[in-house]
Amino acid sequence: MVDDPRPAPGPAPEMPAPFGNGPDPSGVPEGLSGSSGLPRKVRVHHLRDMKDRQERWAMLTAYDQYTAAVFEEAGIPVLLVGDSAANNVYGYETTVPITVDEMLPLVRAVARGTRRALVVADLPFGSYQAGPEQALATSVRMMKEGLAHAVKLEGGRRRAPSIEAVVGAGIPVMAHLGFTPQSEHALGGYRVQGRGEDSARRMLDDALAVQEAGAFALVLEMVPAPVAARITKELRIPTVGIGAGQHCDAQVLVWQDVMGLRTGRAPRFVKRYADLHGTLFRAAREYADDVRAGSFPGPEHSFDI
Ligand code: KIV
Repeated sequence: MVDDPRPAPGPAPEMPAPFGNGPDPSGVPEGLSGSSGLPRKVRVHHLRDMKDRQERWAMLTAYDQYTAAVFEEAGIPVLLVGDSAANNVYGYETTVPITVDEMLPLVRAVARGTRRALVVADLPFGSYQAGPEQALATSVRMMKEGLAHAVKLEGGRRRAPSIEAVVGAGIPVMAHLGFTPQSEHALGGYRVQGRGEDSARRMLDDALAVQEAGAFALVLEMVPAPVAARITKELRIPTVGIGAGQHCDAQVLVWQDVMGLRTGRAPRFVKRYADLHGTLFRAAREYADDVRAGSFPGPEHSFDI
């Protein structure tokens, strides 16, 4: 009897999930091996070691699984699910309104979309300022429900007891000084912080206080470059600059700014590396034109009976 080359009758083979179903379980997609430069799992001690070796690193914000996976593949060791999601995901004017419940699904998506990167969850305004107990309770939610690996909070020496409580519970804390967007109204708008001898001295004292409280890294936002350089030199923990000059140990930017998805005037400290707005705009228009013209879907996108 001759073998019948036709497939045996039965249910048709399963197709790829139409809307995506999480990261490729095999790990890094072929051809995108940038993440192989990362340790199997980025830990806070790796960041300290990099400071000791004077190796700079880049952090990006991420709010969903696919961008998080791409950034990890590109070798970005730390992903911040920033409360800048308020502006960049939810369309609020400031970071003030975003809640823990709005942050959590984004944190979970980034954590589930990555394997190696250290995922840091921002504690939103109102979720930690009441004191150490509240800071700890919110941080625990970010770890258990969000699957984060660390949390970030804004403020200096006044936050030291909260940082101690969270770190004491086994949760790494990233601190944030300089322009702290959650205090935008108290600071009188988007302004460089740390100008003048007194202000720079206070910022250095705050930086030392959060380090002593146990923070593993410190974001410096909109700080004069020489002040950030001095703080970077004085601290054992890495500084992560955003508008704080080239002497920080690391840099962070909001991904929609870097990739040109957000249009309009960008802050001075942003450098655009792509034009995603243009790319998406052109692709969406081409798709709509094809549908109107009847050239999509074609036979290759359709099913036979
Ligand atoms: O929320 C955020 O994205 C941030 C970074 C800009 C540091 O805090």
